[in-house]
Amino acid sequence: MAQIFTPRADARLRLALIVGAALILLIGAGAFAWVRSGTAWAVGKPADQPIPFSHAVHAGGLGLDCRFCHAGVERAADAGMPSAETCLGCHERVWNVTAQFAPLRAALELGRAVEWSSVSRLPDHVRFDHAAHTQAGVACESCHGKVQEMPRTAKAETLSMSFCLDCHRDPSPRQRPAAAVMARGDAGAGGPRDLRPHGLQVQRYEHYGVEVSPLTRCSTCHR
Ligand code: HEC
Ligand code: HEC
Ligand code: HEC
Ligand code: HEC
Ligand code: HEC
Repeated sequence: MAQIFTPRADARLRLALIVGAALILLIGAGAFAWVRSGTAWAVGKPADQPIPFSHAVHAGGLGLDCRFCHAGVERAADAGMPSAETCLGCHERVWNVTAQFAPLRAALELGRAVEWSSVSRLPDHVRFDHAAHTQAGVACESCHGKVQEMPRTAKAETLSMSFCLDCHRDPSPRQRPAAAVMARGDAGAGGPRDLRPHGLQVQRYEHYGVEVSPLTRCSTCHR
């Protein structure tokens, strides 16, 4: 029988197969690296805000406590956002640039909340609770980075599922004494840990012979 493919066609086919396989591997590796990179999670990218608010000026320079504006962090799931009154309490007196604060006055007149954008919003299928973390000695910086140095607020961590699990597998090295939770930087972080005696991570249990911690169980974060 006559040869259907010439030896050159054979060689070309082989080359095409090798190049094809290499491309697939490369695209796969690229996609893997991209998903794990901060860029894919918009780390470092601020959102558009109604007013160009600066944490560096207020939490850094003026040294205001985080709880002054995010009053929920110690007792609620939501950190909470400052109302127009919170800002205008000072800005009726200092830096009263009418045009800049128009969105605040509008919110005040309409009795609405100011429409701050969020860079850290999780999808609806994930449950998160600030009070649980604050009370377990996890500092704001562990998840939000050095907010007090940011002129515009951006994510410092991916806040992806693997970011959460990296800590939930063994949170104890990253828990601080209660008094150091609101401290900036490493201040007080080295003191005696304040692990809650009834804490979730203490109650490991067996499931089909495998030791499970409630902190890594799917239903802790997904309902
Ligand atoms: C404790 C008082 C106080 C509160 C509360 C406060 N500010 Fe300020 N803010 C200041 C002072 C003082 C300055 C001027 C800082 C400086 O000298 O650069 C300032 C500056 C600003 C500026 C312009 C300077 C810049 O570079 O950002 C904006 C915009 C601003 N504040 C928005 C807000 C908003 C929005 C809120 C509410 C979430 C708020 N402030 C709450 C005291 C306050
Ligand atoms: C004077 C009020 C004020 C103080 C004090 C303050 N914040 Fe904020 N914070 C805001 C405002 C207003 C926003 C919304 C605008 C923005 O994202 O910059 C915000 C947004 C944030 C966000 C981003 C939320 C998101 O999903 O986009 C984080 C995280 C945050 N604050 C953490 C902190 C921490 C940590 C501190 C203490 C070191 C702090 N804040 C102190 C007013 C304040
Ligand atoms: C264990 C990680 C973690 C810690 C610790 C943490 N946060 Fe958050 N924070 C988040 C996540 C995740 C979100 C997004 C929540 C959501 O979408 O339900 C968020 C959202 C926020 C928001 C936006 C709230 C809104 O309504 O848009 C603010 C403000 C905030 N955090 C401030 C703080 C402050 C202040 C502290 C320290 C007292 C703190 N966070 C500690 C993970 C954390
Ligand atoms: C730096 C460590 C750390 C990170 C990061 C972290 N957690 Fe936690 N988480 C904890 C600790 C510690 C507890 C409390 C355990 C206890 O109650 O003793 C906790 C508890 C929880 C609980 C149980 C709350 C309750 O009602 O008791 C949920 C839900 C949760 N975390 C979700 C998340 C999610 C979602 C993320 C990622 C966005 C996250 N956590 C990131 C340390 C962390
Ligand atoms: C400590 C909290 C936590 C635990 C425990 C957890 N998840 Fe998640 N999961 C998250 C967060 C946060 C996201 C959202 C990430 C995003 O897209 O912003 C997520 C997203 C997901 C998604 C959507 C796809 C994706 O990657 O965004 C699936 C599916 C999922 N989780 C399944 C699971 C399963 C199955 C388990 C148990 C083996 C589990 N999760 C345990 C925090 C958790």
